[in-house]
Order: sequence, then C-alpha cells, then structure tokens
Amino acid sequence: MDIIRTPADMQSRARAMRAEGKRIGFVPTMGYLHEGHLSLVRIAQEHADVVVVSIFVNPTQFAPGEDLDKYPRDFERDEQACRDAGADIIFYPSVDDIYAKDQSVYVEEEKLSCGLCGASRPGHFRGVTTIVAKLFNLVLPDVAVFGEKDAQQLRVIRRMVRDLDFPVKILSGPTVREPDGLAMSSRNAYLSCEERQQALCLRKALDCAETLYAEGEREPETVRKAMLEVINEASLARVDYVEIVDDETMKPAETLRRPTLVALAVFLGKTRLIDNTVLG
Ligand code: PAJ
Repeated sequence: MDIIRTPADMQSRARAMRAEGKRIGFVPTMGYLHEGHLSLVRIAQEHADVVVVSIFVNPTQFAPGEDLDKYPRDFERDEQACRDAGADIIFYPSVDDIYAKDQSVYVEEEKLSCGLCGASRPGHFRGVTTIVAKLFNLVLPDVAVFGEKDAQQLRVIRRMVRDLDFPVKILSGPTVREPDGLAMSSRNAYLSCEERQQALCLRKALDCAETLYAEGEREPETVRKAMLEVINEASLARVDYVEIVDDETMKPAETLRRPTLVALAVFLGKTRLIDNTVLG
C-alpha cells in the first residue's frame, strides 16, 4: 500500500493507472476510520482494480465554531486499518496543498442541500461538494463510494455528478452500526459514557418511525411527533432537527405514500450525531 501526500503525485499516479487500463475505486474520508468506512472500501474493491482512500479533514465543510480543531485524528491507526482492508493507496494531502490561499472557485448545489444539515450547518455542503469535486479531479476515479449514513450528502454528490457530468459512478453502502444500533461515526469518540448510552435515542426514534409506518401510518407529522417524544425521553439529548422529506426532492413530505427520507440530527452534550432511514 502506498501513501501519496501531494495533489500532483496523486493525479499523475491516477493518470498512469488509467493508462494501464486499471479501474480506480475511490473512498473519500476524513479519517479516524471505523468499520463503516472500511465497508465502503470493500464495496470499492468489488468494482475496481485499485482502491484509493483519501484522508483529509476538510476545513471548508466546518462552519465557524464547529469541531474542526478537535476532530479526531490518528493517521497511524488509519494507515493500519487501510492496509488490513487491502486498500492500495492512501491519499493524505495537507490543507495548504489542497487549497490555494486565494482560492475563489467553489461548487455549490442549490436545492437538495438547503434543508436538514444544510440549514443547520451553513456552508457545509458547499465545502463538501467543492472538496469532492477537487478529489475527483486528483484521484480520477471510475467509481466512488459514499455511505447512506450521510443520506443528504449522498444525494447532493449524486446531483453534482449528474449536473456537472463527472465521469464517475457513485455507489452507496448501508449504514454500519454498533451492536446496540448506534450508527458508527468518528464523532462517537467525543461521547461520555452517559451520552453514549443516551445516543441510542437516535436509533430508537427511527425504529419508532419504521414501526408506525409498518402499522400503516401515512401522516408525516404524526410520525415526527412520535419521534420527538422518543428523543425527549433522553435527558442529555437536544434535537437539532427531525425531518421527514421526499426522498427525491428533499422537501418536507406531505404523505408517506412516496419514498421518504426520515433524517435526524441530535446533540448529546456538545456532540452532534446524525442518522436516517428510508420509508417506502
Ligand atoms: P467521513 O465522515 O469520514 O465519512 C466518509 C464516508 O464514510 C462517507 O461517505 C460517510 O457516509 C461514510 N460513513 C460514515 N459513517 C458510516 C457508517 N456508520 N456506515 C457506513 N458509511 C459510513 O463524509 C465525509 O467524511 C466527508 O464529508 C467527505 C465526503 C470525505 C468530504 O470531506
């Protein structure tokens, strides 16, 4: 496994691999890897000859006052995890090499990114689409794999690829969970013992939505209220949002008779966690 640190080296290596006829699979990450990330590496391996994992804590997707400075990092552990998973290349660039000091071009999605995390984290998706576009230009992937855990991000990236004609196939992988149901996240490392326990309220709220739906409930507002009640039972939890949106438009759903995305963001203390499920 090779570690490539500069954008120029990454791009020339990608060009060389493509010239040899190799299909490049790509898994972009911010590191502090867990089983969720590694499951995406395995999906990429099934669809490509070489797999590149990028590790880059992207400053432009953090709003002022967010956790950029304390975002967990452990390159040595990540390197070992990538090696064990059979990744071929880690792309590990520095912030200064990625962003010119006077960078003035950004990629912005204007519809799907407005609600949910886009509403509570201004500028977040502009940072995500910009870095993913830049990484695509450096890694030149045939396929790139994203997690369903970040449901809105996945939809925004698919839209970017469609609307800007990136020659990249986007694949997704299901959310990998801890045995008790908590979605794996690098940010779980921030949780105290008690917060970790109460973080189960996210999964419980989604379970509640799924149960109501299975019982025939089709009114989004009824489901939303029931989910809020579940979360409010956890004393350390503070709701950022609980939203039920049309899976295609990401606008508030008027009925559950079409595929809908049920997504939530909840603070446990200072840690903001997200999770989601699709109904229908
Ligand atoms: P990061 O949070 O490190 O996640 C990298 C990828 O892993 C994303 O596609 C995310 O959806 C996926 N992922 C995270 N937790 C998962 C889980 N429990 N199960 C399955 N997949 C999971 O998302 C980002 O980084 C950044 O926004 C990035 C796309 C790298 C751009 O900076």
